[in-house]
Amino acid sequence: MSPSLTVARIAARQGDVFRELRTASLREAPYAFGDTLEETLSADATTFDAKAALNAASTTSTTFILYTEGHPAGLIDACFDDTLARRAFVSDLWVAPAVRHLRGGELLVNTASEWLALGGATEVYAWIADSNRNAMRFYERLGFGPTGDHRPTARAQNQWETQLVRHVTSASAPPAG
Ligand SMILES: CC(C)(COP(=O)(O)OP(=O)(O)OC[C@H]1O[C@@H](n2cnc3c(N)ncnc32)[C@H](O)[C@@H]1OP(=O)(O)O)[C@@H](O)C(=O)NCCC(=O)NCCS
Repeated sequence: MSPSLTVARIAARQGDVFRELRTASLREAPYAFGDTLEETLSADATTFDAKAALNAASTTSTTFILYTEGHPAGLIDACFDDTLARRAFVSDLWVAPAVRHLRGGELLVNTASEWLALGGATEVYAWIADSNRNAMRFYERLGFGPTGDHRPTARAQNQWETQLVRHVTSASAPPAG
């Protein structure tokens, strides 16, 4: 039987869970992220406590955690950038290998998109490394498409990433008109 997957916004007290998931993601899929494992491991516990507290309460950035049978098994970040356009992004998506292909990734992206839509977003953007073909296929399956923007990755100037976008509407928003 498939395990049940649920998603919830990070709570202020979950700095340790945040650190555990972030380091697990960087160990397992270092090619997918801008940060390095070394940087993350060198950050002390209070850094993650502060990030968890911020992302639990902020109206401009947050983290959602995926649970399988109550155990943390993945995460995604969502934020509005600080430009005038206040563009909405999802990033740092990871699902533990043991629970992949069960739509946990989809649940994380959709929950994060809904949160951004409730905050006023009509488009949600993501940067994906060109070499990460799995993630590219995953996002395309969810309706994301290229904006035409490319840039070198933060990790290696000879590797590139592509910006994807998906239109979103909030299921909870009042009907227009
Ligand atoms: C990308 C990722 C989050 C997907 O998580 P998931 O929970 O397996 O995703 P879902 O079950 O919702 O969707 C899986 C779908 O994505 C696509 N996909 C994911 N991995 C794939 C692969 N290896 N090959 C082909 N398609 C793949 C397929 O359409 C797949 O559908 P299927 O399960 O019916 O084959 C997960 O593979 C992961 O954490 N990868 C490593 C980190 C990473 O690349 N993160 C993205 C950073 S931008």
